[in-house]
Amino acid sequence: MNDSTTIAWEPTLLTLERPGTAAVHFPAVWLRDQCHDGHGWKGTQRLADIFDLPASPYIESVCRTGDRLDVRWRGEERPCSMSIAWLESIAWPPQGAGPRLWTATDAASLTRADYHAVRVDPAAQADWIAALLRDGIAFLRGVPAVEAEVLRAASLIGFPLETNYGRVFDVRPEATPDNLANSALGLGLHTDNPYREPVPGYQLLHCVRACSVGGDSLFVDGYAAVARLRANRSTALEALSAIPVDFRYSDANAILTARRTLIELDRDGRTARIHWNNRSLSTARLPLERAEEFYAAYREFAAILRSPEFAVRIHLQPGDLVAFDNGRVLHGRTPFSGDRLLQGCYLNRDGAASRLAVLQRANGSVDQIIRLLEQRGGQAYFGEPVSQLEHALQAAWLADQANSTSALVAAALLHDVGHLLHAKPENAADQGIDTCHEELSYRWLMARFGRAVAEPVRGHVAAKRYLCRVEPEYRAQLSPASVQSLALQGGPMTAEEALQFESMSWYREAIALRRWDDAAKLPNLRVPGLEHYRALLADVAAGL
Ligand code: OGA
Ligand code: ZN
Repeated sequence: MNDSTTIAWEPTLLTLERPGTAAVHFPAVWLRDQCHDGHGWKGTQRLADIFDLPASPYIESVCRTGDRLDVRWRGEERPCSMSIAWLESIAWPPQGAGPRLWTATDAASLTRADYHAVRVDPAAQADWIAALLRDGIAFLRGVPAVEAEVLRAASLIGFPLETNYGRVFDVRPEATPDNLANSALGLGLHTDNPYREPVPGYQLLHCVRACSVGGDSLFVDGYAAVARLRANRSTALEALSAIPVDFRYSDANAILTARRTLIELDRDGRTARIHWNNRSLSTARLPLERAEEFYAAYREFAAILRSPEFAVRIHLQPGDLVAFDNGRVLHGRTPFSGDRLLQGCYLNRDGAASRLAVLQRANGSVDQIIRLLEQRGGQAYFGEPVSQLEHALQAAWLADQANSTSALVAAALLHDVGHLLHAKPENAADQGIDTCHEELSYRWLMARFGRAVAEPVRGHVAAKRYLCRVEPEYRAQLSPASVQSLALQGGPMTAEEALQFESMSWYREAIALRRWDDAAKLPNLRVPGLEHYRALLADVAAGL
């Protein structure tokens, strides 16, 4: 929250102001829609619909306390409370870095990362994807030069699309190609498949075999080229973003057509996508009254694209892979002779940003969990001779010693995270309260670490009730605190409950976790500390 922000209101409007910036007005109906205080949503999905929102909500009073704003609504009992910092972030959104435009002289600054590192290290993966989003292109080295590896690489940024060319397409010379790509001819700069709806968002090309003569790859940042067109102040940009043409591809199995403009602008007038493919362009149904304008603009942009100052030229070697934004970066190749095999695949445009956001959330979750354990883990552990943190570290260490999967080690470390999240007293069991910590832990862990961590954690209390049923000696060795909570948790399972428990897919993991949980109560046992698990947690949270 910024101390210089002032807040004013009237019944239908809330206004935020900061010196030196324009005031931002929030209409009451919008504000009321944000007031749910946890109601109206199930997790991250909205339940409340438009009819749950009063048509003309009226603000009755607004009260500011610290970072909170309490808004009272006419005719409604419950006030709603929201964070001022959050309102500020809507009013003055942080500016993202946006695309970095590049030309031929920037070739050396384009990102080339090691495939193995990007696969196994969440930080390296995040850096590579961030570069891809920023530059519209990023390279990988050391990708095994074997067929279909491109699909494994694709999983870094989403899900390969299946098209009439298959999930993987081969680019290699054929005797009688349907597509000029499968010849040894050069290919002028283009974007792929503008005849498809939607147009593939990203393209990966993986070099399996290279030729020694020709076959260089060319890449041009279409955003930089459009920026030049804008700088020319000609009418070409308007023409190319307004006049539609047809794109078309046909062979024995497919007849694909789409009508679109060569340049697409977003709602704010920024360059969004470029569709540029002379091979599949048809001007037959061009709006005739704008035909001359179109050809002049097409020629003007083509001249910019052809200018050598824009093209980055490289010879892909076996094991090289290039990923690029097919709506931004144009690609081509020089003619070649000899054997050459590239394998490609397409992905939607949304996957890369999603993957990066997941990686960033994973880092955030790991930071949060480590902070929670550090700050609150010193608390006593429900009448046991260890603290919560010691207990968690011992359980994780036992799981690690048993050669468990990373997910199960994480589950062991975090199995009681619910205790740290809720505000119930440490001696809850004495007061007859079942803290339901496994459900709380489950929801928190599902959202951040996924099923393989969350399910064993959810099952670890049931596992205690199960073991009490099937192993009489198990019950005998439970600590007094454990016996006390067992009663609150429902006592030993019935035969039927035990059968049902065994039918659950995570029950073995839940039992293993239970045993480590029971054993992790040794005073003064020396085990590795929290930082030992940071990388493992980041991997699991990032789904690596
Ligand atoms: C293609 C293509 C590039 C190359 O198949 O569409 O652009 O280097 N290939 O062969
Ligand atoms: Zn292509």
